[in-house]
Amino acid sequence: MSFLEVQTQTAWGRVLAGFAQWCAPQPDWITLDVGSGPGLLPALFAERGCRAFGCDLDDAVLRRRLYSSLVQADACWLPFSSETFDLVTATNVLFLLPEALMTLQEMKRLLRPGGVLALLNPSERMSVSAAAALADERGLRGLDRQSLLDWAQRAEAHHRWDEEQTINLFAEAGFCKIEMTLKVGSGLARWAKGVKDKD
Ligand SMILES: C[S@@+](CC[C@H](N)C(=O)[O-])C[C@H]1O[C@@H](n2cnc3c(N)ncnc32)[C@H](O)[C@@H]1O
Repeated sequence: MSFLEVQTQTAWGRVLAGFAQWCAPQPDWITLDVGSGPGLLPALFAERGCRAFGCDLDDAVLRRRLYSSLVQADACWLPFSSETFDLVTATNVLFLLPEALMTLQEMKRLLRPGGVLALLNPSERMSVSAAAALADERGLRGLDRQSLLDWAQRAEAHHRWDEEQTINLFAEAGFCKIEMTLKVGSGLARWAKGVKDKD
């Protein structure tokens, strides 16, 4: 199963569309999606009038892209000038990375003062059993079911930040006005956003 299939052939595309709306991008914003995969989220921001960019570490993922303005880059060392972007996003990426705080600080460097960082990660409620229960409840089959269970497996093997841990992570990286919400079934994913201080 490729990320292109996940973004275009499963319910994940609808989750990203909801997340794009929640980020509330303004038409003239410059946006960057880190770990974009084939680029569905930047494509959704571009549809809303943004100058949208994406980046991903994996060259193979980028070769099968659905959006053009993507570059290869590591989230820890992003090849963009400081204070360039109005919105930086990362969906289902930070929880996989060993150096979450350092990565958030690098994303913050790219934001203009007052710019927004928005993240989507599995919540503390995510587990293989919770994902299987949701898949059963919704009658998910094939790719839809498999991608949800794969996500849960990866979440169990990596980070699942709860509300307090998420607030601490944002605050430590220097973000204020932190907002969050739980989504996906009974709240298997946490969406969180914060604003880069103007000081
Ligand atoms: C689970 S996928 C999520 C893709 C997309 N954001 C989405 O929500 O559909 C994780 C993505 O992060 C990328 N990735 C992993 N480590 C990365 C890193 N250090 N820097 C940039 N991208 C990374 C992977 O190549 C992969 O495309």
